[in-house]
Amino acid sequence: MTELNHQNYLIGIRKKTVLEEKSVEKESIDLIVTSPPYNVGIDYGSNEDNLIYKDYLNFSQIWLKNCYVWTKNTGRLCLNIPLDKNKNGKNSVYVDITTIAKKVGWKYQTTIIWNEQNISKRTAWGSWLSASAPCIISPVEVIVVFYKNEWKKIQLGESDITREEFIEWTNGLWTFNGENSKKVNHPTPFPRELPKRCIKLFSFLGNTVLDPFSGSGTTLIETINNQRYALGLEIDEQYIFNSKIRIAKECYFNNTIPSKEKFVTMLDYIINISKKNKSAEIYYKIFGKNWGKNITSASNFVKKSWEKIEFDNILTKNYRGTLFEYLIIICLYSKKILPFYQQAKIGFVPNVNYDIVFYNSKGYPITLSIKTSLRERYKQADLEGSSLKNVHRRAKNYLITLDKKEYKKIKEKIERSDVGGLDEIILADTQEFDKLLDKLAKMNFIKTESIEIIKGKIIE
Ligand SMILES: C[S@@+](CC[C@H](N)C(=O)[O-])C[C@H]1O[C@@H](n2cnc3c(N)ncnc32)[C@H](O)[C@@H]1O
Repeated sequence: MTELNHQNYLIGIRKKTVLEEKSVEKESIDLIVTSPPYNVGIDYGSNEDNLIYKDYLNFSQIWLKNCYVWTKNTGRLCLNIPLDKNKNGKNSVYVDITTIAKKVGWKYQTTIIWNEQNISKRTAWGSWLSASAPCIISPVEVIVVFYKNEWKKIQLGESDITREEFIEWTNGLWTFNGENSKKVNHPTPFPRELPKRCIKLFSFLGNTVLDPFSGSGTTLIETINNQRYALGLEIDEQYIFNSKIRIAKECYFNNTIPSKEKFVTMLDYIINISKKNKSAEIYYKIFGKNWGKNITSASNFVKKSWEKIEFDNILTKNYRGTLFEYLIIICLYSKKILPFYQQAKIGFVPNVNYDIVFYNSKGYPITLSIKTSLRERYKQADLEGSSLKNVHRRAKNYLITLDKKEYKKIKEKIERSDVGGLDEIILADTQEFDKLLDKLAKMNFIKTESIEIIKGKIIE
């Protein structure tokens, strides 16, 4: 089970199918907000979205039934689906799925029309300016609202919806734009506004909300940020990974001041995504869940963490390096200095793995060379920086270390221009490091386009 457990509101994202009843505990869910695959041939990575319509309806029947079993007596289901399906023949998806939902036990409450305002997709007119066979496309989707047994909740909880929201959202015509799929790394995300409205309208604070097709994690983000417990099912490993990163960013790092919770949660998060990594295991043993109390700055976080690592003194050299790199990554995340590449190669620079690489939107890389101790090893960082600068003249290379002894000597060398590959040496447990992070946070980093190293006709 891929569970992320921490003191916040994420119960977990399970790599499980919605088609198995045992994927979720019976009668444990207060609200389901979801959007199933639309069966329109979207490439979801792990699953086919191209069933014949009859099979699609069978698939719908199984998961709607499971959701029914997982829901509490007063539980509800908000189902975002299209009105019609126009690919490979016309089908009345809304009507058919509503019928199936009722067949498996769901009681029908209402339908909200989501006016997506997306009319740019329009290409097919059928018979243009003729009554022969005109094609109608409705630029809307629906959110069908069902409940299990009782619509009215007798056991009341605390609602957090405002007067304005209540008045606006109980009007069943909702108008807001869709989500940009590139932005969230998923082919068919819905916008955050959709689950946000459903969650605040139909559930109380502290309720449990499930998205059985969690995709990029949109429902989970709104659930967590609105103080309800979030559970997701998703079969695609890559989407689970992406959604964890999105949740970490949107829920725990949505301002730039690192605080206690953010460091702690990030620690948990890194440990969870790298479960198979021995260093992460050791890290977890050393710090436990509550590590990070009273920590106010990135340098202080590094300092305190490292003091503890030194004190426990159980690390072999190899792990010390990796753990130091984790600490730096946690700080970068907490300050939202993203995106960056970890252990990355740079095109045309031979045989070097850079610890951290940012790609500046102005068109050059910035690398961090992360080394706990230095001695002669600064030479390696210098060489790596020089190779980089041969290819990218404006590139910057910062050496981040904890080695106080060597620091002074190398700093002088840099000032005298004795080393060409290093722009600065920074002690990670001092304010210098906070300053570097502030500087990086002001820059704009982007993903690079993939480059083909050799182009041309190949003769073998
Ligand atoms: C329409 S998308 C949901 C998008 C989501 N609402 C969002 O905002 O990102 C449907 C998702 O269901 C997943 N999926 C498909 N079949 C599944 C199954 N049997 N069990 C669980 N997830 C499944 C797909 O991988 C896809 O990510």
